[in-house]
Amino acid sequence: MYLILLGAPGAGKGTQAKLLSEELGIAHVSSGDLFRENIKNGTSLGLEAKGYMDRGELVPDATVIGMIIAHLETEACAKGALLDGFPRTIPQADALDTALHSSFSDSIQKVIYIKVETEELLNRLSGRWICPVCSTPYHEVKNPPKVDHLCDNEGAALYQREDDKRSTAENRLQVYFNQTMPLIEYYLKRGLLIEINGQQKVEKVNQDILAVTGSNRGELSEPLVA
Ligand code: AP5
Repeated sequence: MYLILLGAPGAGKGTQAKLLSEELGIAHVSSGDLFRENIKNGTSLGLEAKGYMDRGELVPDATVIGMIIAHLETEACAKGALLDGFPRTIPQADALDTALHSSFSDSIQKVIYIKVETEELLNRLSGRWICPVCSTPYHEVKNPPKVDHLCDNEGAALYQREDDKRSTAENRLQVYFNQTMPLIEYYLKRGLLIEINGQQKVEKVNQDILAVTGSNRGELSEPLVA
């Protein structure tokens, strides 16, 4: 099963992907997390991506596409994937389609569009704290850890992302409006898009997504039209 989580920076893609990946039994594939891991390990891919990420711009399509397709071919994705942060442009979406058809004889089952208003997105990004071990995102007010500044799962000290600073976050949102929002129309036309209200409690957003993806592993409910 291949599902896409689509939404602006701060919409809650990572938060939901962590829950859904366990509930649906498929791998969580986050392009942002893969880049951050490469940066941490000092790889050439990480070095290439870092400048773009620090400025809140998109990493070039060819680089992202190569990284994600290679990852989809790993054992971890044998049962499919929940894609978080990819695709983000029409060329990326086309490349994903081609790869799924040719290498896996498969296709995207659903695109979950998590919708959140702009001011709320900026509030979420400025209050976000992340676990350096398992990448679980928290929010200091809206979704705090049980113990201040420590991850519930790992006990590790949480950190804030450099690109969550207000000016970079605003640029990331602008890039999203210009380059990623056309994907909403792209997937809507293909009958794959389902819009979810992302401005509800984390648990309610999760329930709404499960209701349209089916909570049993490997099963999907009837397609809906957004
Ligand atoms: P990436 O890491 O993908 O960042 P993003 O898309 O900007 O998304 P975020 O991680 O900021 O937000 P999210 O939707 O996951 O929200 P979260 O769940 O954390 O990309 C980073 C960079 O990498 C890009 O700028 C680009 O340079 C590069 N890149 C990545 N993919 C690329 C691609 N395909 N092409 C080119 N370049 C690429 O939640 C946010 C906060 O809100 C948290 O604090 C959370 O606790 C809180 N929250 C979540 N849900 C709720 C809720 N329901 N109510 C209240 N608070 C909530």
